[in-house]
Amino acid sequence: MTSNELAFPPGFLWGAATAAYQIEGAASEDGRTPSIWDTFSHTPGKTVDGDTGDVACDHVHRYRDDVALMTELGLAAYRFSIGWPRVQPGGRGPANPKGLDFYQRLVDELLGAGITPWITLYHWDLPQELEDAGGWPARDTAARFADYATLVHGALGDRVPYWTTLNEPWCSAFLGYASGAHAPGRQDAGDALRAVHHLLLGHGLAVEAIRAADPRAQVGITLNVHAVSPATPDDVDAARRIDGLGNRLFLDPLLRGEYPADVLADLADVCDFAHVQDGDLATISAPLSLLGINYYSRHVVAGPDPAVPAEPYWRAETNWPGSESVRFVRRPDVPVTAMNWEVDAPGLTETLLRLSRDYPGVPLYVTENGAAYADTVGAGDTVDDPERVAYFDAHLRACHDAIAAGAPLAGYFAWSLLDNFEWTWGYTRRFGLIYVDYPTQRRIVKRSGRRYFEVIKRNGLAE
Ligand code: FCB
Repeated sequence: MTSNELAFPPGFLWGAATAAYQIEGAASEDGRTPSIWDTFSHTPGKTVDGDTGDVACDHVHRYRDDVALMTELGLAAYRFSIGWPRVQPGGRGPANPKGLDFYQRLVDELLGAGITPWITLYHWDLPQELEDAGGWPARDTAARFADYATLVHGALGDRVPYWTTLNEPWCSAFLGYASGAHAPGRQDAGDALRAVHHLLLGHGLAVEAIRAADPRAQVGITLNVHAVSPATPDDVDAARRIDGLGNRLFLDPLLRGEYPADVLADLADVCDFAHVQDGDLATISAPLSLLGINYYSRHVVAGPDPAVPAEPYWRAETNWPGSESVRFVRRPDVPVTAMNWEVDAPGLTETLLRLSRDYPGVPLYVTENGAAYADTVGAGDTVDDPERVAYFDAHLRACHDAIAAGAPLAGYFAWSLLDNFEWTWGYTRRFGLIYVDYPTQRRIVKRSGRRYFEVIKRNGLAE
């Protein structure tokens, strides 16, 4: 490392991330049963072009080649999720040996390649039977999740050092049960808040179970912490509300053992929180070994001022509690990605510093960060994606700035290893470091993937 390079701390963990339903395919093989995302994506009108994860990147059959590509990218770690209905069909009872076997083989392949496996236990694929029994608004789902976590940790705990329970419970609860934009597509504000609590309780019970089995396990959770700014000084209360719903409703129970009083007051008309039982918050706030942050963009919000050009917060169909009087403001001249998400790297620095200030003492990892752009295959089978290169560059600088200012950031995972099934957007949005030609399943490492290799190799950026 020469002096004109931005060096990251020694041992900084460099990786890329995926999620089971987004890449695996093999949706009805070897005893796997449907998840809420199978049901949802097969429901007409729910995803662009009616796309489903039936085949996705066919990763279950191509995992060896995919691990070889990870080696080509120089990854030190790989964050992937376990498909709950693959390893425990129906979400109850014994493990499905064939399902577990896939993850055993994947982990062995990773370890053989010198790549550290990082498991996410839940990236949105609730077994459909558990949804039929009430889903996340039902308390029993938390207990089912802890059983499932125990089962997976029992099979892989000896070889996998990093465990995150949930990916973005905000999305599971609010997009799944309030706006209905994501699976299971329900629209009930009270149910969404019960889902928040039972997701967090499931997390706490899973942490307890994993720690009981292995006190040294690194266990945490991944949140999509929102970088929230008021559009004008008059919009401070709108920002408080969204920070409350998007961030503190999760961070406070996890890291302070209490729900934020102002958010409970905002939500009083929708929910009395009578579902919170004695002892739950102690379970939920079991110490974390790490906190994962997924960061894509900033949210600039405004109150109901007709003079401010605004659109409803997050998505037009959003119907989540306490957000009625808040709007999401588009800033002119800020570049956007193919998701129409504003590119705002300083928001990542702010988020990391805010976490280290308001919730100190827990190591932070960026568990997802990346951008969708309309990639095309060019001459000589290459994919040149300068905008994604620039996006990663800016966000890695933002991470470096945060570390320099004292944030305990210990690793970074690019989203995503592969182009994949982007939920309601189906295959129309590409986030990969590696391009996937879906009809042939051919993979092409993009320019951003090659550039990431250089970053990892030098443990930093050239200035
Ligand atoms: C995150 C999800 C991930 C992917 C990215 C773009 O919210 O965790 O699965 O869809 O957004």
